[in-house]
Amino acid sequence: MAEKEAGAGEEPAAGAPSDGHVAGDGNSDGRASVLFVGDVVGGIGRRTLLDSLPLLRERYQPTFVIVNGENVAGGLGITPKLADELIDAGIDAITLGNHTYHRREIYPYLDSQPRILRPVNFLRSQPGHGVCMVERDGVRLGVINLSGNLYLRAGRSAFTEIEAALGELGQAEHIIVDMHAEATSEKVAMGWHLDGRVTAVVGTHTHVPTADARVLPKGTAYITDVGMTGPRGGVIGVKREQAIESLLTQMPVRFETSEEDPWLMAVFIRCSTPLRADSIEQVLMPRPQSPPRAD
Ligand SMILES: [Fe+2]
Ligand SMILES: [Fe+2]
Repeated sequence: MAEKEAGAGEEPAAGAPSDGHVAGDGNSDGRASVLFVGDVVGGIGRRTLLDSLPLLRERYQPTFVIVNGENVAGGLGITPKLADELIDAGIDAITLGNHTYHRREIYPYLDSQPRILRPVNFLRSQPGHGVCMVERDGVRLGVINLSGNLYLRAGRSAFTEIEAALGELGQAEHIIVDMHAEATSEKVAMGWHLDGRVTAVVGTHTHVPTADARVLPKGTAYITDVGMTGPRGGVIGVKREQAIESLLTQMPVRFETSEEDPWLMAVFIRCSTPLRADSIEQVLMPRPQSPPRAD
């Protein structure tokens, strides 16, 4: 099943913001680490992320935290307010995907906020940009968002447009690529295509984590899909009864975000020499128990 519809589917941070960020192991030698969080789905996913962050920062001490936020607003898209909430929580960059333009109010924000990315291989005429550079602890991390071309609408080829994107990041000690794609074949191929040229290629979009996290032979960390941060009790984020009804009846069904069994799904990548990863580790954990919140 693809995503929800149709029953299927920089500005460098010179002077890091005072956001409670715990400095990681980054330094001028290029050592750093990245926590990349899979598609955050709805309010339940947002709360799961925000409730998990203190524990994750303590446990992993990531230099950078990157989040795919294409499903943050009620399961589809993102709004300026919600993007600001993530950035205020210390998220270094937000990547998106096929749901980028679901909320019209995000269009100008995509142009004005350097830390939020839409796939770089969308048409140039579409709002936003697909590359940014963030800096912490003297380490510059380039972030690139790509969209697959199979079963998704992306105006240009991910495999040709990646070259220009990499050309913008010549000063980066590390580069992480979010390859937002439906087909495993495209994601695996992009991992091999970029092996040795970027620090990590991480897949997003299917909301289901894969078991193939590894460092490729030339030093690029790779996983086909990070998974989602949201309700495991649903069907890739949707209430399961509604997804099943849609598939059973083949009729339109209004989808709502499930609230059942929220988990955080991410990968933690240790980076050493420029553009190389030492390790990639999956992070799969239920939402921490916490007192009820007003939101
Ligand atoms: Fe998604
Ligand atoms: Fe997606």
